[in-house]
Amino acid sequence: MTPLLSARGITVRYGSLAALDGVDLRVDHGQRHALIGPNGAGKTTLLDVVAGATRARAGRVWLAGREVTRRGPAARARRGIGRIHQRPAVWSTLTVSENVQVAALPHVLRPGRWRPGGGRSAARRTADTLLARFGLADLGGSPAGQLAHGQRRQLEIAMALAGRPRLLLLDEPAAGLSATEVGRLVEFLRDLPRAVGVLLVEHRLDLVYALSDTVTVLRDGRTLAAGTPAEIRASAEVRRAYAEGVA
Ligand SMILES: Nc1ncnc2c1ncn2[C@@H]1O[C@H](COP(=O)(O)OP(=O)(O)OP(=O)(O)O)[C@@H](O)[C@H]1O
Ligand SMILES: [Mg+2]
Repeated sequence: MTPLLSARGITVRYGSLAALDGVDLRVDHGQRHALIGPNGAGKTTLLDVVAGATRARAGRVWLAGREVTRRGPAARARRGIGRIHQRPAVWSTLTVSENVQVAALPHVLRPGRWRPGGGRSAARRTADTLLARFGLADLGGSPAGQLAHGQRRQLEIAMALAGRPRLLLLDEPAAGLSATEVGRLVEFLRDLPRAVGVLLVEHRLDLVYALSDTVTVLRDGRTLAAGTPAEIRASAEVRRAYAEGVA
């Protein structure tokens, strides 16, 4: 079957540093794929390349069999890539609800089928549903800039879902969350429709092992290991790499 995401030979350089050096990655439809590795391994850079935010010096990217190597982030989002960033990115002067509505708009406005008010109320319904799911319903009218870090993180996930992704890129979603918020995050990831593929960067290995069915380990811009959570957990090489370099 055609993979949901295929990236081959991805190379990114910053000056003399190879942030990524010929990395291959494949995520199948519905797969929960974790990307782990020490600080500076190239995990965020690889998500940037997949999302179209960073142009690789070499390598190619396909989404559901169509090449997107030369497409920008907006075109890739339209083709089904949703993303949350290592540092939550929300519109701080818009309300919490408006943030989700803006993210939903491309899906409720069909070109040539605009009916005044129709798209907007559909966006509002999407926002209400998602905010309730993330415990943010009471904050819908507040400026997003007033949210605490954990709430901002939840909002960003709600925004990513409003875009109805086929592939969700999550960069350290549990960082800075309270135990309750982490519990909600785990529940949410378990409840995602099975058709949605997930590429999860996470330092907390308990979450990685609980949530993923495949793990790729990066170190110094190269693939160190790939396999099932059980295989990765058993790898002495991976344990050594982690002991050396996770903040
Ligand atoms: N814009 C940039 N300019 C210069 N170097 C960069 C840039 N972005 C990343 N790097 C370098 O590329 C390497 C990979 O960085 P990246 O952020 O992808 O690592 P990471 O695996 O996400 O690490 P962490 O776990 O700390 O988030 C690092 O050495 C980093 O310093
Ligand atoms: Mg990172």
